[in-house]
Amino acid sequence: MSTQQHSSVGIDQLAVYVPRYVLELEKLARARGVPAEKISIGLGAHEMAVAPPWEDTVTLAANAAERLFAQGWTRPEEIGLLLVATETAVDHAKPASIFVHELLGLPANCRTFELKHACYGGTAGVMIARDWLLSPASRGRKALVIASDIARYDLHSSAEFTQGAGAAAVLLSAEPRLLELAPESGVFAGNVYDFWRPLERREALVDGKFSLDCYLDALSGALADYRSALNGRGGQPLLERFDALLYHTPFPKMAYKAHLRLAEVDSAARIVDPEECARLAEKTYAELVEPSLTMARRTGNSYTASLYLCLAWLASQRAAALPGREIGLFSYGSGCCAEFFTGRFAERSPEAAQKIAAAELLDARRSLSVEEYERCATTAVGEPPTTDGTGAFFFAGVRDDKRHYARAQRALGAGA
Ligand code: CAA
Repeated sequence: MSTQQHSSVGIDQLAVYVPRYVLELEKLARARGVPAEKISIGLGAHEMAVAPPWEDTVTLAANAAERLFAQGWTRPEEIGLLLVATETAVDHAKPASIFVHELLGLPANCRTFELKHACYGGTAGVMIARDWLLSPASRGRKALVIASDIARYDLHSSAEFTQGAGAAAVLLSAEPRLLELAPESGVFAGNVYDFWRPLERREALVDGKFSLDCYLDALSGALADYRSALNGRGGQPLLERFDALLYHTPFPKMAYKAHLRLAEVDSAARIVDPEECARLAEKTYAELVEPSLTMARRTGNSYTASLYLCLAWLASQRAAALPGREIGLFSYGSGCCAEFFTGRFAERSPEAAQKIAAAELLDARRSLSVEEYERCATTAVGEPPTTDGTGAFFFAGVRDDKRHYARAQRALGAGA
């Protein structure tokens, strides 16, 4: 275990939200004539969250944040910075964040904007919030970063199985209750065309196999930069130092591939036999990576939110055992920018982790048929929600070219 100094800023509270509908991927595999094992084993994916027409990036974000405020520790007036990270924006100019600002009743002197760099946007927001908290601008207030996305690819494409949706509301503060963030991180950036979404398209385009290579190369680059940031300190192998390693998870098998790469990079100087390196990666994967993956396995890709859903799942499942444990997190955004950063669970983390209640959210969803999923995928504008079909807020349609949102009569609270 490392004795490295951590700053006293980090994640104070975390809340997640996923749409109320789910499609079991076995059903989709049957409908598309694809072997079920290719998806369950080859991609490691079991279910995907399906956003109905009355949920969009704004409602997912606001619903996650509503669950965060329902945890009872923070009031909207305490927020001085609101960042909404997404790669599935609802408008080219008007940011999702200003809709969320209104829905949550945040104060007028709260700086707010939307930010984008594919799936890296959420981590970009976390890093901006961390720096803001360390600056005089924060004046003792807290920062709310919300990562929110709906991952859509063309129906019948191979990427269709890696869709999903979800949002994570990440509250950052000084003296955080959940996870103290370390000041050092490693970054890698470079222009690649692995995944993109031209302005007129609702569904993303992707060069699938190439995107996997870009992800792994960015991981190697970020780890090399992390070593430079440590500047000779913390020389012990990453696989021995951390109690968990969390990776951006477009599909769970990607986290496995990432872990193999990290093991290779980590052990390059010590282990020259590739088979021995693979055995070490295999052994540590079960212990360090697998425990964080259930939410990704059951919701699919949630782009900017993906890494934070992994954190939410790990924290909520391991609540009692968290204090003092150190974790490494890898964020990848196509295009690309990536960052490897670390954190240590705080003394009060069990209490903060228990409030996340991630499992209840998954268990409360309604299962769709493939036909119902396809209707959701091809319908852009909302119908009135059913009583169990939404969180606290829903998208109420477009009038006069303007988007409207409303509060649901029967909202989901801190639980499911
Ligand atoms: N039983 C078990 N496994 C099987 C199988 C079977 N019957 N048939 C195939 N498989 C395995 C394959 O061997 C392969 O495993 P390995 O990669 O370990 O070899 C796996 O199933 C997938 O098979 P294919 O590569 O043939 O799958 P595909 O052509 O359908 O494409 C994909 C897979 C490229 C991930 C595609 O789903 C895709 O393009 N997804 C979107 C892009 C994406 O998620 N990229 C990730 C990196 S980029 C990123 O992270 C940013 C982001 O969020 C988008």
